[in-house]
Amino acid sequence: MLNPEENIELKNFTTFKIGGPARYFFRVRNLDEAREAFGFARLKRLPHFVLGGGSNLLASDEGFHGVIIKNELFGVSFTEAGDEEVEAVAGAGENWDAFVAESVRRGFYGLENLSGIPGTVGAAPIQNIGAYGAEVKDAIVSVEAIDSRTGALKAFTNADCRFAYRDSFFKTPEGKPFIVTAVRFRLKKSGVLNTEYKDLKNHFASAPKKNRALTLKTVRQAVLEIRRGKFPDLETCGTAGSFFKNPIISRQQFDDLKKQFPDLPGFPLDADSRGFQADSRGKNTPRVKVSLAWILDNVCELKGYQKGSMALFERQPIVAVNTGGASAEDAKRLAQEVAARVKEKTGIEVEWEVERL
Ligand code: EPU
Repeated sequence: MLNPEENIELKNFTTFKIGGPARYFFRVRNLDEAREAFGFARLKRLPHFVLGGGSNLLASDEGFHGVIIKNELFGVSFTEAGDEEVEAVAGAGENWDAFVAESVRRGFYGLENLSGIPGTVGAAPIQNIGAYGAEVKDAIVSVEAIDSRTGALKAFTNADCRFAYRDSFFKTPEGKPFIVTAVRFRLKKSGVLNTEYKDLKNHFASAPKKNRALTLKTVRQAVLEIRRGKFPDLETCGTAGSFFKNPIISRQQFDDLKKQFPDLPGFPLDADSRGFQADSRGKNTPRVKVSLAWILDNVCELKGYQKGSMALFERQPIVAVNTGGASAEDAKRLAQEVAARVKEKTGIEVEWEVERL
């Protein structure tokens, strides 16, 4: 019989270091324990929330009057899949970067650009983590998840997951009851390294000649180094990485903004990543992802902006930081102010990238 802990401060389980007490708190290490925890929540008629690394979460100051289920489903395996590929299966509770480091150490290609991202393996497909020109969806074969209503286990193919920019089926109302238990990846034994992303290209171009060799290890090292320069140190302040998503706007709106801000970086989205959206008249309109960091820096002049104990990071303004003792209300106030400023200057409505509880 699994016993919950009670009144556990969520600020100790989120990288933002924000959040009041959770009424009940379970750590589940296998599927039966997960089923038990769901059963407990049902019995108490309380909502549940599954917590991974807490690295993309803003938990409220009141805490959570429900059942937190900390996903500690572990285990990693690598199995040959023909001459060229390897199938890796990782438990949802595994630390994401430790899994990436192990894949790179074994010489398997596919995850190296996603080095250094905080959080767990289970969270990776939910928000389709992405960085430095890669998205995790391109390495995922399938996702195993348990239905919290019935306890049944189900495998979702890559297509079932309906991946898009920082989005998947698991974020939709039909997907929410499914709790990721393991993720199956297809990695390559030899591959092409992708260093097209601006920061990576610059990194290798400006490295001393002897350090320019492109290998799995040097790409991982480069990504870790770039991230160290752009992201605050989690040891010294609280953050959940990018607070907002990069906005996706119509080509028309992008062209209009370009007239005002000729240097605004934009990335046209291709059709298969939902680059086309039916407009109100049912016509499809091409869309462009724009850099919010650039807008915050160059249009809104909010880089390093501080409000109480919350700030936009001085080297990457899309990243909000808790400089010490901020509340969820402080974070929301900063976010509201930033959103209003972006709307006023560009007409763009920003969306939170961070999940709230
Ligand atoms: N920029 C500025 N001023 C700055 C910083 C950036 O103008 O102070 C401009 C530059 O033009 C730069 C551009 O913004 O080229 C993009 O910046 P960056 O390469 O840092 O990427 P991002 O679009 O701001 C996204 C992800 C990050 C991911 C990086 C690296 C989102 C919401 N964020 O940020 O993911 O690490 O790319 O690929 O898509 C996260 O999701 O939490 C996250 C950290």
